[in-house]
Amino acid sequence: MKTNLLKYYVIFLSGLFLFGCSKLNEPLPPSPEITLHKTGILDVNSPDFHGNLARQNGWDLKLCQSCHAADYSGGITDASCLTCHTQPKGPEACNTCHGDFLDPERIAPPEDTRKNISTDSVGVGAHVHHLYDNELGHSIECSTCHIVPDEYSDPGHTDTELPAEITFGNLAIHNIATNPVYDYNSATCSGVYCHGNWAFLKDSSDNQWIYTDSMIVGNAFSPIWNKVDGTQALCGTCHDLPPQGHQNAGEDPNATTCSGCHTGVVDADGNIIDQTKHINGEKNVFGN
Ligand code: HEC
Ligand code: HEC
Ligand code: HEC
Ligand code: HEC
Ligand code: HEC
Ligand code: HEC
Repeated sequence: MKTNLLKYYVIFLSGLFLFGCSKLNEPLPPSPEITLHKTGILDVNSPDFHGNLARQNGWDLKLCQSCHAADYSGGITDASCLTCHTQPKGPEACNTCHGDFLDPERIAPPEDTRKNISTDSVGVGAHVHHLYDNELGHSIECSTCHIVPDEYSDPGHTDTELPAEITFGNLAIHNIATNPVYDYNSATCSGVYCHGNWAFLKDSSDNQWIYTDSMIVGNAFSPIWNKVDGTQALCGTCHDLPPQGHQNAGEDPNATTCSGCHTGVVDADGNIIDQTKHINGEKNVFGN
């Protein structure tokens, strides 16, 4: 009996939460159609999957908490979220909505938060290449390109309109003269340190002899975020081989001589052999 009463209570609540109560003072329509969750609530491939429900509600999990309890343990519904969302933060874990659901270490999109609701998505772009399969350079954090929330409910996170905010920091803005820009229309970023917006000055160098100009400069390349065919980070895109202002600038396209001086960074075949020493913000030459 108690369970039945509870069900009615919940159905009443669902009327309030899922349809709003703005028309309380109007006469009720005849036999109003009140449903709770649709059958696809647990089917990932269904448009009624609960993730899509959250997405349609602007990712506001407070709505879910109103029935499933503040700690997601089920509350009046008896249906706990924590049986499947087993991490300490439950459904609020950082890999729930935009990471790899099975790997808490991978919180960046391979999952597109816009799927099913928008056709103008740039997709998940080069997140994986930057963060997890980065064979070219030093490891990169979210904070290089975004302000990172401590908690899912922090202001500026899901309460803002898509697309995601890009705010450059860390290495992206290291040693640069002009501020980097991300252009949403072309999905192109420009002016970041990492892609060659830098200048190393002869005046402040201990190795002035290698300079053929007042500075050694990169190419300030503008990569397209969602072009992930390898062309956007080819050897020679971010800086010439060697770079402009450096002896023999541009004369070693296969990068076979760099290893003679940039020891421990590149090998004689032009492969990066120590990612921690490339695109790390430092000059690495003669083994340091
Ligand atoms: C008005 C109350 C109410 C609200 C609001 C609500 N739910 Fe539910 N939910 C229930 C009840 C009751 C059940 C169990 C019966 C059922 O499946 O319909 C349930 C079941 C579920 C289940 C199935 C759990 C299982 O183990 O079978 C999922 C998943 C779920 N809800 C997700 C959500 C999400 C996500 C939200 C927020 C977007 C949400 N619910 C909001 C009442 C609610
Ligand atoms: C029976 C297991 C199960 C239960 C119970 C469950 N979830 Fe989920 N949930 C999943 C799985 C699996 C995914 C990831 C699906 C995928 O790979 O896209 C998911 C994804 C989500 C997402 C992200 C959706 C997206 O598309 O990015 C949210 C938000 C979420 N769940 C909230 C909840 C809440 C809130 C509850 C409890 C009311 C709940 N879940 C209960 C299994 C469950
Ligand atoms: C309930 C779903 C959900 C959860 C849980 C979640 N996120 Fe997000 N996150 C989103 C969505 C949706 C966006 C795109 C937001 C927008 O409109 O800007 C986003 C965007 C981001 C961004 C890009 C910058 C921005 O704000 O747009 C970062 C970084 C981020 N999330 C980190 C995190 C971290 C860290 C956690 C865990 C503390 C987390 N997220 C948990 C849904 C979620
Ligand atoms: C190298 C820069 C860079 C780094 C590092 C980075 N992002 Fe992003 N992120 C972007 C760009 C660019 C977009 C796309 C903006 C747009 O929609 O045009 C984006 C979009 C997103 C989105 C929204 C995707 C969608 O579905 O539309 C989320 C969520 C996000 N990032 C989370 C993260 C998290 C979490 C991390 C760290 C684990 C991270 N990002 C690291 C550049 C970056
Ligand atoms: C995504 C942009 C990018 C690409 C692609 C790139 N580099 Fe670099 N490279 C940099 C930056 C930035 C520096 C500046 C110094 C630093 O931060 O490590 C640099 C510096 C160097 C140096 C000087 C040593 C050092 O790290 O200080 C060598 C040698 C080098 N790159 C070789 C290569 C070779 C060989 C390739 C192709 C396999 C390559 N680079 C591709 C961005 C790039
Ligand atoms: C003869 C030795 C020598 C060779 C060969 C050489 N470099 Fe350099 N390179 C240097 C020295 C010395 C500096 C200056 C560092 C300083 O200012 O202290 C330098 C500076 C640089 C810089 C800017 C600062 C830094 O360390 O990131 C880049 C980028 C660079 N070299 C890339 C290359 C690339 C790519 C090749 C191969 C195509 C190459 N160099 C070949 C000696 C060499």
